[in-house]
Amino acid sequence: MSYNLLKGKKGIIFGALDHKSIAWKVAEKAYEEGARIVLTNTPAAIRFGEIEQLAEKTQSIVIPADATNVNDIENVYLQGMEFLDGKIDFLLHSIGMSMNVRKNRPYDDVDYDYFLKTLDISALSFHKIVQVAKKLDAIEEWGSIVALSYIAAQRTLFRYNDMADAKATLESIARSFGYIYGREKKVRINTVSQSPTLTTAGSGVKGIDDLYDFTDRMSPLGNASAEECAAYIITLFSDLTRKVTMQNLFHDGGFSSMGMSARAMTMYCHSLNPEE
Ligand SMILES: NC(=O)c1ccc[n+]([C@@H]2O[C@H](COP(=O)([O-])OP(=O)(O)OC[C@H]3O[C@@H](n4cnc5c(N)ncnc54)[C@H](O)[C@@H]3O)[C@@H](O)[C@H]2O)c1
Repeated sequence: MSYNLLKGKKGIIFGALDHKSIAWKVAEKAYEEGARIVLTNTPAAIRFGEIEQLAEKTQSIVIPADATNVNDIENVYLQGMEFLDGKIDFLLHSIGMSMNVRKNRPYDDVDYDYFLKTLDISALSFHKIVQVAKKLDAIEEWGSIVALSYIAAQRTLFRYNDMADAKATLESIARSFGYIYGREKKVRINTVSQSPTLTTAGSGVKGIDDLYDFTDRMSPLGNASAEECAAYIITLFSDLTRKVTMQNLFHDGGFSSMGMSARAMTMYCHSLNPEE
């Protein structure tokens, strides 16, 4: 069902790879809610993913860009604004990658070149897309910027590795830039901290299936799906949330506020004393 929440709005979406991607669901929903959009991803992701199908479905175009490259980002805005006939109202950063995670390097034996790459792709790219947007004055007043984060920014989660540091930086960038962009142009910036989700990036974290099951059972409302995440992000792009900025917003079925559930406690005690 559509509420026309984004009627007349224009946006750029970074990070749709295939139909499982969170950005893919956001693009579909934004289109459904009346927005016009432009999609972007790396040339390799465009070649190997399914983004062209999404562009067709949402009457958008795909502009190739490596989000760590400032010239590429500039080109996305210039071409994007031409296609959309003017400035944009919303921006999604849905980008993450760690070679240390991919290559299974433990946190106490990381490769530092990989680590720098993790920070550049998963965190600094967010600063870059906001800074370039501001310099080009590409975003309308009361525009909205959202980036995807994960609770490993605050809590230690086994195997999330250097991505935890990247997410902590990402969330900090939202606050630091949110102050400046809000004060000067009334543009709001938030991060959405999403439940584990079985996407390509998510599946790169070893043991995600067990973690997914654990958080699903531990959250009173269960894990949030990619579609539910997209629906929440649409509200943040809409005019209904104009005074929400510089926040890290948990979208995780309540997991972030849980300590111990009755069910988990029973299982814990049972595993210690199986004969009882
Ligand atoms: N899947 C989860 O469990 C989960 C949970 C919380 C947050 N997130 C975050 O959600 C976001 C989206 O991930 P997803 O789960 O939809 O997976 P995904 O694999 O579908 O998306 C990751 C995207 O990052 C893009 N990317 C990688 N390097 C890039 C670069 N240099 N320039 C531009 N784009 C680049 C990939 O091409 C891909 O489209 C990420 O920030 C991720 O950390 C995911």
